[in-house]
Amino acid sequence: MQDVLRIRRARADEGPTLAAQLTDLCRRSKAHWGYDPELLDRWAGDLAITVDDIDRDVVLVAELGDGDDATRPRIAGFARISRGVGTHIDHPAPARLNDLWVEPDDIGTGVGSALFEASCEVARTLPADQMLVVADPNAEGFYVRMGARRIGEEASEMVDGRRLPILLIDLHRPAPGATPVTSG
Ligand SMILES: CC(C)(COP(=O)(O)OP(=O)(O)OC[C@H]1O[C@@H](n2cnc3c(N)ncnc32)[C@H](O)[C@@H]1OP(=O)(O)O)[C@@H](O)C(=O)NCCC(=O)NCCS
Repeated sequence: MQDVLRIRRARADEGPTLAAQLTDLCRRSKAHWGYDPELLDRWAGDLAITVDDIDRDVVLVAELGDGDDATRPRIAGFARISRGVGTHIDHPAPARLNDLWVEPDDIGTGVGSALFEASCEVARTLPADQMLVVADPNAEGFYVRMGARRIGEEASEMVDGRRLPILLIDLHRPAPGATPVTSG
């Protein structure tokens, strides 16, 4: 039977167990790009998901299972979205996509785009019109494919000379792959 992908919101009562599972997933997923284990150790603080993160932000968990309630699904990825700072009622600040990680074995199977679209849906309800992500350079092509545009870059605090692309997503853009509406 084919696995079914389900995306759900993390619950506050899952706190420490889920935080530990997601932290491990971040490291495995980041390692997909071939970074040195020593560098991954240095990034450990940035790659950690805390109980506070789960309480404060919206964490979306992507699970793969056979659809049978009796069988426990496995986590294939997750995303974390937070409210932008400095929201004004007429111009809500951009939401932030703080995390988007897929299990290495599931990369390239559509989990990332499903989580990304679900994150956009969450961000719209915050409310926000735009969503910002400071991305791993290897993931920039993915975000651009999802409709993001690069608006700048920032220096990595940990690695000299490393630049991180800053990407902005218009939350009212047509979904990638949608047929453009033409006139005339
Ligand atoms: C980036 C990431 C989330 C993408 O998830 P994914 O499940 O592989 O993405 P999908 O399979 O849904 O791909 C959706 C589309 O994006 C494209 N795509 C995926 N990764 C890409 C990349 N790195 N560069 C360019 N295009 C990419 C796919 O080819 C696909 O295109 P299509 O619709 O034309 O077929 C995943 O590679 C990942 O978790 N990487 C490691 C951790 C990481 O860097 N996270 C982001 C931190 S900012």
